Amino acid sequence: MCGIVGYIGNQQASSILVEGLQKLEYRGYDSAGLAIYNDGEIGVQKYKGRLKILEDHLEKNPMGGSLGIGHTRWATHGEPNDLNAHPHTTTDGHIAVVHNGIIENYGKLTEWLTEEGKVFKTQTDTEVIAHLVDYFYEGDLIQAVRRATGKMEGAYAIGVISKNEPEKLVAVRKDSPLVVGIGKEENFIASDIPALLKHTREVYFLDDGEMAILTEQSIEILNELGQEVVKEPYRVTWDVASAEKDGYEHFMMKEIHEQPKAIKDTLSPRLNDEGFIEIDEFNLTKKDIEGFDKVMVVACGTAYHAGLIGKFALEKFAKIPVEVDVASEFRYRDPFVTDKTLFIAVSQSGETADTLAALREAKARGARTMAITNVVGSRISREADDVYYTWAGPEIAVASTKAYITQLVAFYTIALDLGLKNGSLKEEAYHRVIQELKGFPEKAEALLQYKKDIQFLADEQFNSTSAFYIGRGIDDAVAKEGSLKLKEISYIHSESIAAGELKHGTIALIEEGTLVVALATQDHLYDKMLSGIQEVKARGAYVIAMAKEGNQEIYKTANAVITIPDTFDELTPILSVIPLQLLSYYIAVARGCDVDKPKNLAKSVTVE
Ligand code: F6R
Repeated sequence: MCGIVGYIGNQQASSILVEGLQKLEYRGYDSAGLAIYNDGEIGVQKYKGRLKILEDHLEKNPMGGSLGIGHTRWATHGEPNDLNAHPHTTTDGHIAVVHNGIIENYGKLTEWLTEEGKVFKTQTDTEVIAHLVDYFYEGDLIQAVRRATGKMEGAYAIGVISKNEPEKLVAVRKDSPLVVGIGKEENFIASDIPALLKHTREVYFLDDGEMAILTEQSIEILNELGQEVVKEPYRVTWDVASAEKDGYEHFMMKEIHEQPKAIKDTLSPRLNDEGFIEIDEFNLTKKDIEGFDKVMVVACGTAYHAGLIGKFALEKFAKIPVEVDVASEFRYRDPFVTDKTLFIAVSQSGETADTLAALREAKARGARTMAITNVVGSRISREADDVYYTWAGPEIAVASTKAYITQLVAFYTIALDLGLKNGSLKEEAYHRVIQELKGFPEKAEALLQYKKDIQFLADEQFNSTSAFYIGRGIDDAVAKEGSLKLKEISYIHSESIAAGELKHGTIALIEEGTLVVALATQDHLYDKMLSGIQEVKARGAYVIAMAKEGNQEIYKTANAVITIPDTFDELTPILSVIPLQLLSYYIAVARGCDVDKPKNLAKSVTVE
């Protein structure tokens, strides 16, 4: 999983490619590089480390030329170093390639091409693409790339240039994202829209197997058989500012602040004038809904945590049994999925390899499939039978915040809709919940006003070496998300455990000063949580508790208390996650961590 860009036109390619890569750095930041055609040769500069290192080199050694490709890497095959950085070239340097994905049969291909005399310099799977194209090259880059991709197994979005044909840039995709930007006397490719927005809002999404041939004046798209495909351009409606930091120090903070709007933008289009939920994207009839004997939710990471809340919502409002699984496990456990299963894949990016594979598995077993995703045109959105788009806007920070909150809104609206349609929910209760949900943008906004208090707590606790997040019921699911947020951006060891389960082992790890974050937002579990807090405090823990406004007892029990606005117990996760995101953020900042680009991570995990 990496980011690729490409440019052909009449401007200097170098700065356009670097700016594009800046917008894609969230996809990987182990190394970065450019290949640019100039004066009959392809020049390459590529370096281990952040893009900034490449930029510094380019300042000293500028690259001229108006045709080029660029790459920012999240290493899979071969350690991150200068040699393994992309672009990769043929031995004589006449072809250069950038790639996002994994070539699964690269071992066999490398063996064969080595026998054919090709000399490999790197440990990457990508180098094989350059040699393959070279092998098939007989004066026609398009044919050579077509024959090369015919031999490649796995996932790829590639950009290829040849010094013999400097009037074109060739790109192909299969199972990795690729967008073609339509310019005036210039055209572009990129892994994601933000990389193109400075130059164009008109884009084509390539389908699997499609090839785009870009020249300064034209874009031709061919299918696998080489036949021309006529596509409607997609107009990007969101703003460039949505992909900029907008005065915030980090994207993560900006995205935390965008949550009230994201809640509103996801909820409002699903409410009709009569106050009923209407999810236009779904074609689920009452008969369909009554035909489901269970819902299976599958996702990874934060999206999986949203699925855990989804289970509570669906079981509560629609009275349908729900199973939730991480995608990487689901695929390999011979899951019980039938044509009576409603399968929901949740994925911010819509391109997570494990989630995509799980979706395909569920489809193959006859399930009705639905995607909850934030990215229009993404692989998962295209393959599911129905799509619920979360309108969070582009999420750039690697740690997911606003996308998660909109996934919760998606689950609540789906659960309410199904519940009313299958008769599990009375209309009066249904409207009461909807009414409450409508007030959530304001409640979320109100919570953000307390960020200074949370920063104060973070400044006291940032030196913790270990943290435990505890909760019961729906709070346990939110605690899991809080814990993940902390560990991924602050690198503090953090675990989440159901509060009642703590005493069955994990409590052995609690000692003087251990940080415990205890969620106690559920009225019927409040007293039990107070006991749980006392148990860890008795072993020396420092407890930050969270409760709904108006609860007094907790102030006597915990060391510090964060409150959230009063609301229905079932809906608290939309609010309670916000202080947890802020706590993680401020702790990570206090520890000097790179909040938006945590080590070893990347935004979209397109490898298994
Ligand atoms: C954590 C985070 C990841 C993603 C996971 C799935 O903050 O963002 O855990 O949630 O990699 O990604 P998507 O939702 O794109 O499938």
